[in-house]
Amino acid sequence: MGKKINVGFVGAGYWGQKLLPKFLSAPDAAVRVVCDIHSGNRAAVQQKFPQISTAESCEAVLTDRELDGVVIATPPASHFSLAKKALDAGKHVWVEKPLALRLEEGRDLVQLARAKKTVLFVDHTFLYDPAVTMIRDMIRQGELGDIYHLYLQRLNLGRIKRDSNVWWNSAPHDASIVLYLLASRPKSVNLHGYRYLQPNLEDLNLAVIEMCDGTSAFIYHNWLYPENTAKLTVIGSKRLLVYEGKFEKRSVTVYDYEVEDSMDGGRLMDGLPTTIPSKMIAERELQGFQDQEPLAAAVKDFLESIRDSRAPLSHGEFSLQVLAVLEAGDRSVRSNGEKIPVEF
Ligand SMILES: NC(=O)c1ccc[n+]([C@@H]2O[C@H](COP(=O)([O-])OP(=O)(O)OC[C@H]3O[C@@H](n4cnc5c(N)ncnc54)[C@H](O)[C@@H]3O)[C@@H](O)[C@H]2O)c1
Repeated sequence: MGKKINVGFVGAGYWGQKLLPKFLSAPDAAVRVVCDIHSGNRAAVQQKFPQISTAESCEAVLTDRELDGVVIATPPASHFSLAKKALDAGKHVWVEKPLALRLEEGRDLVQLARAKKTVLFVDHTFLYDPAVTMIRDMIRQGELGDIYHLYLQRLNLGRIKRDSNVWWNSAPHDASIVLYLLASRPKSVNLHGYRYLQPNLEDLNLAVIEMCDGTSAFIYHNWLYPENTAKLTVIGSKRLLVYEGKFEKRSVTVYDYEVEDSMDGGRLMDGLPTTIPSKMIAERELQGFQDQEPLAAAVKDFLESIRDSRAPLSHGEFSLQVLAVLEAGDRSVRSNGEKIPVEF
């Protein structure tokens, strides 16, 4: 093993404290400093990881000559300015989702990373779930047939954000999964959102994404929901598939089904076909992906991409497409759910 990659953390709240142990246990990385403006979170880090030094000011961390990379795990509104400062200083950057709050800002970051020849990694964690990779392979190999539709649900009670609505909080995951799985590009987004708890922030929304090849995706988010659900359903012409994507419980179930393909074959009632016969044939749960932990795999890819001077799987340009979908959704919800084209 060569020299360790020196990393500094900016933001040690809920997610920063989940990420930190992954970097601490990565053999390639040395976490030198964690900065957070919140004294309680600095104290929590000091208590759990007394070997790490903490700082209040992030300016010094973003430009620290000793650091090779910076991990930004602050609220979304600060991602652009913090990532820009770190990239300007020549750092490799891990930025939490979403990359930025505007496509233009995302583009600036991608261009800056290109100019500086540094890695810009965006934490679309689900790209690193081997279950998601397996589903992608199945789709690419035609095992599910033509893909008609995806239905994604991210529902829970809790972690209700004050600084972003449920779309900006949850859709980076779902949009990244849709774009990663499907070969086609997103064409348009309709987003309907509703506010019950906070006057300016939607706490539930329903999105329709249309892809250029005719595939549709519905995304339902709600953080006032009795069950903790993170689920993807894939409707293919040959098979159906359900992916349960909670970090603590992941599973993939495939369903063989049959729909009689001709209206003429249906039972007739008074000469009119009233239903097309369909039936479920078999159901099986797939195995073989449970032992790889997605966040640890994401950290490994970030570090290796720095070491090997290559783009990580979840690179900035991929995330720009996610941002284009997020931005279209944002414009749609402000126009009462109008269909908004996705522009890259
Ligand atoms: N990939 C995932 O699965 C996943 C899961 C949860 C959260 N996240 C992302 O992680 C990020 C943080 O979310 P969270 O839930 O941890 O929020 P949080 O509010 O719990 O933590 C954010 C922390 O950043 C600190 N902070 C804010 N501005 C700062 C600044 N300028 N300099 C230094 N520290 C600053 C705050 O004091 C706080 O401790 C968000 O972008 C969120 O979308 C990702």
